[in-house]
Amino acid sequence: MQSVDVPVGLLGYGTVGAAVARLLAEQGDEIERATGHRLRIARALVRDPAKERSFEPEPGVLTTEPGDVLDDPSLRLVAEVMGGVEPAGSYVGALLASGRSVVTANKQLVARRGAELFATAASSGAQLRFEASVCAAIPVIKALREALVVTNVHRVLGIVNGTTNFILSAMDEGRSYDDALAEAQRLGYAEADPTDDVTGLDAAAKIAILATVAFGSRVPLDWVEATGIEAVRREHVEAARALDMRLKLLARATLAGERVDVRVGPALVDVHHPLATVEGPFNAVMLQGDAIREITLEGPGAGGVETASAVIADLVSIVGTTGTGFLQNDPVWRELERMPPGDLASPWYLRLRVDDRAGVLARLAHELAAEDVSVARLVQQPADGEALLHVVTHEAPAGRVEAALASIRGLPEWRGEASALPVVSERGVDGFR
Ligand SMILES: NC(=O)c1ccc[n+]([C@@H]2O[C@H](COP(=O)([O-])OP(=O)(O)OC[C@H]3O[C@@H](n4cnc5c(N)ncnc54)[C@H](OP(=O)(O)O)[C@@H]3O)[C@@H](O)[C@H]2O)c1
Repeated sequence: MQSVDVPVGLLGYGTVGAAVARLLAEQGDEIERATGHRLRIARALVRDPAKERSFEPEPGVLTTEPGDVLDDPSLRLVAEVMGGVEPAGSYVGALLASGRSVVTANKQLVARRGAELFATAASSGAQLRFEASVCAAIPVIKALREALVVTNVHRVLGIVNGTTNFILSAMDEGRSYDDALAEAQRLGYAEADPTDDVTGLDAAAKIAILATVAFGSRVPLDWVEATGIEAVRREHVEAARALDMRLKLLARATLAGERVDVRVGPALVDVHHPLATVEGPFNAVMLQGDAIREITLEGPGAGGVETASAVIADLVSIVGTTGTGFLQNDPVWRELERMPPGDLASPWYLRLRVDDRAGVLARLAHELAAEDVSVARLVQQPADGEALLHVVTHEAPAGRVEAALASIRGLPEWRGEASALPVVSERGVDGFR
């Protein structure tokens, strides 16, 4: 069989871009056997061509002139692996407008500019693919768009940020937050500036993309209620252990009727739940739906080669599907409403510090009952003449729990702490129709 030569353009030749080039060079034969196409990097845009690269490109491939990639009509396929919303967004928009297909690893770009870029792609017939933008090597977008096409997925639960999962795992082994963060930076799991990871911003972009694909409705980034792990301390991790749970930074998207709730924040996960055992820098995504009950995909969620493998998988898919159908389109096909954040029902872990004396528990129970929040478990620890209560509730709407906590903060016995984290313990799909 005569193989087809496919010159590929890269926007960026850093950690991911160089790994794409290396994998294509080393595994081009396999790709050619599977697809009949030989993909080769023809041009790559960088800022500084003199920089040392982990895989050196052929002479003449690197350029600092965007037009060498954007205006070269022989480059029908381009991978955007440079990061940032601009100028990456303008470059991708221009490529799509001219009918060239683009693969991107850029979660912030897809989460913030997806609507506009997909509209451009739809009008020119080009494809925009973004598997690498969520959880690197884990093929979750492909699973949602293809394998689960007849499944009504209505909940996505994920550990989608490896840096924070590494930090929380290290804290679970006894380290402080600061030590764990320093260790993550030393091992290359956290950037020198870890703000996007520890504030939940990185996970928010990923769950916005996952919710959009899973529910077929655009979920803008500002719908995501995001809290990071900066306020998490060893005592929170230890309290979770005492309750047979693990503290995780959980990204969660829920479809209830025609409304959507999307959030990121620390949560307590029952030890028997598959997400509780996801340790270190690994990622996992659990999809729950009518026909499948649940499917959990777990694997490395970052790294140059891991991300590059997803970029190449998308390039190969384009080569194999050009002009044929639905996968080149925006995943969005309907408009759902945002659920008011207070309506999301969940079991909750409450941490309350109160006076250690008779009658206090009854008053707390009264305030909770007044908001219809019922207690499933309670562990009490003495704390310097005060009592620290760890309470697990039955399922209750977030707004009711917040209202009960507000009342508890007004009690004379309250001693400065009254906070809530969601608990994840159930499996399957009951209660989320
Ligand atoms: N690394 C990972 O583990 C990982 C995982 C998942 C997703 N991603 C995503 O993949 C993308 C790339 O990440 P990376 O880690 O490969 O980044 P990186 O190592 O910093 O590489 C970025 C590349 O883009 C080039 N570049 C950046 N801004 C440019 C500009 N304005 N004009 C021209 N060239 C520019 C840089 O040129 P120079 O080399 O000359 O500086 C570099 O080659 C990001 O969107 C990231 O979020 C990365």
